[in-house]
Amino acid sequence: MQIVILKNSAEVAEYGANIFIKQLQEKANSVLGLATGSTPVALYQKLIEATQAGAISFKDVTTFNLDEYLGLAGTHPQSYRYFMNEQLFDHVDIDKSHTHVPPGDAADPVAACEGYEQQISDAGGIDIQLLGIGRNGHIGFNEPSSGLMSRTRVKTLTKATIDDNARFFAADEYQPHLSITMGIGTILDAKKVVLLATGENKADAILATVEGALTASCPASALQLHRDAVLVIDEAAASKLSDCEFYKHIENENQKLQAQLAKL
Ligand code: PGA
Repeated sequence: MQIVILKNSAEVAEYGANIFIKQLQEKANSVLGLATGSTPVALYQKLIEATQAGAISFKDVTTFNLDEYLGLAGTHPQSYRYFMNEQLFDHVDIDKSHTHVPPGDAADPVAACEGYEQQISDAGGIDIQLLGIGRNGHIGFNEPSSGLMSRTRVKTLTKATIDDNARFFAADEYQPHLSITMGIGTILDAKKVVLLATGENKADAILATVEGALTASCPASALQLHRDAVLVIDEAAASKLSDCEFYKHIENENQKLQAQLAKL
């Protein structure tokens, strides 16, 4: 794993956005894996700005989101489809028919999960997958105990996740407790994975992801198996790592090497 420790959430958003901007500049018809939650919002804002400035285009881009609440249609304001339209798709030149979010209102959710896997495969696989991380180490809605090779399926949410997300729902509003999520195996199939984490409340999850054992108890630890996973985190999220200075030193050395290679 490449571990990039930056000062604050603004730097994390900028660094993460630059990875996606470079990706779209190098491959205009990229297949992007996208995420919801509060962490990626600032990154999406940077992508909107880059699109409006003409630096990138989403014209030929295809997207697949990680997850969706089961029981919410895409028109529901708390659905992840609605979130993606509001936070990104409505503000860039993407063809909405090329954007995919698992169908939370599917009559047959099991068939919908298989269909989602098929659509990803038909698109040629995901070039770059964006991830947040839950306080409990979840990625997508792969809660602790998720199979490390799991595929897209229906998952029951933990109480911790329901509590964390309760802030988005009105007190008397129905809050789903099931989801459709890409599996950990689906995520590991992406060619590149970029995980963003900010804030002290993510420090335990980041510690378990980076320095803990590979375990279903911390789904994000599965990224230890990925060949091209980058964790972009702020000082607060990195605060429990045993040797931040060493990780920063590695990143400095990486950058020197990249600069040297760029001259060849
Ligand atoms: P957050 O959610 O970005 O709102 O912290 C991350 C997640 O639960 O995956």
